[in-house]
Amino acid sequence: MPRKVIIITDPGQDQAVAILMALAAPESFNILGIVTSAGNIDLNKTQRNARALVELAGRTDVPVFAGCPRPIGRPLVTAEHVHGPTGLDGADLPEPTVALRAQHGVDFIVETLRAQPAGEVSIFSESPLTNLAMALVKAPDIAERIGQIVMMAGAYFEVGNITPSAEFNIYVDPQAADIVLKAGIPTVMLPLDVTHKLLSTPERLRCFAGLGNRGGKVVANMLGFSESFDLRKYGWMGAPLHGPTVPAFMIEPGMFKGRQVNVSVEICGELTLGMTVVDYWEVTDRPKNVLYVTDGDADAYFKLIAKLIGRLP
Ligand code: RIB
Repeated sequence: MPRKVIIITDPGQDQAVAILMALAAPESFNILGIVTSAGNIDLNKTQRNARALVELAGRTDVPVFAGCPRPIGRPLVTAEHVHGPTGLDGADLPEPTVALRAQHGVDFIVETLRAQPAGEVSIFSESPLTNLAMALVKAPDIAERIGQIVMMAGAYFEVGNITPSAEFNIYVDPQAADIVLKAGIPTVMLPLDVTHKLLSTPERLRCFAGLGNRGGKVVANMLGFSESFDLRKYGWMGAPLHGPTVPAFMIEPGMFKGRQVNVSVEICGELTLGMTVVDYWEVTDRPKNVLYVTDGDADAYFKLIAKLIGRLP
């Protein structure tokens, strides 16, 4: 039975791969809607990119909504330095014709969770958490209706990527992350601690390019663009591939390992704003609110990505 999901995202190349995987796997995902966030680039571009992706996948049945244009507690920080001015540089996708839905993304989240049986909808989170947090503030009753949140976010042993202490998706909207992590919702966090072990090596990118379909070439070209920043920064054999950890965990959780611990967010530190403080050795009595994932099977991960992307037109 496919899982009912609401995808919250700010595509970006790696989020785009994750969205395409979900669109290519109707046996695993019943995508109720895609709610776009401001993050990697501004909201006008993330909503445009999400519409271009559903068209690329031949899945214009999946509605796309725009959420909030800025974070809750601070000015928007974007990442064009990684993703390029369009957010999907390298993809070369045509201007989408499918319409953006008129309903605000936050209202779509609230309405959908209230309409669906409690516990049946999961949140597939690939972006700053602004829209989910705003939905929880507007309609606290939805917290107990969310079955699970699976989010790519956070960092601890791998430290930060946008500051020395913070991962981008948390740093953009720390207040939102604080609201979500304190809402008592079963949550899986896929942080840099695991994504930095899942590297898009040249061989893996060649595998995507050689799938024989347009989708494979688009994925290889997109990642070939976005990898350059990380290759210069880290000097590794490949760039970490963050976003696809969310669909991969939802489809094959056994390829990952983690620990149920407390994760709290620094919301007022000058040097540590947006840091995910993980009580990994249980030295406090803070509630164990997160399954914090620290390891993954890279070969199984890239095999799954290739399998699903290979299904695209
Ligand atoms: O911190 C890594 C994540 O933040 C990636 O998904 C990247 O696209 C940025 O959004």
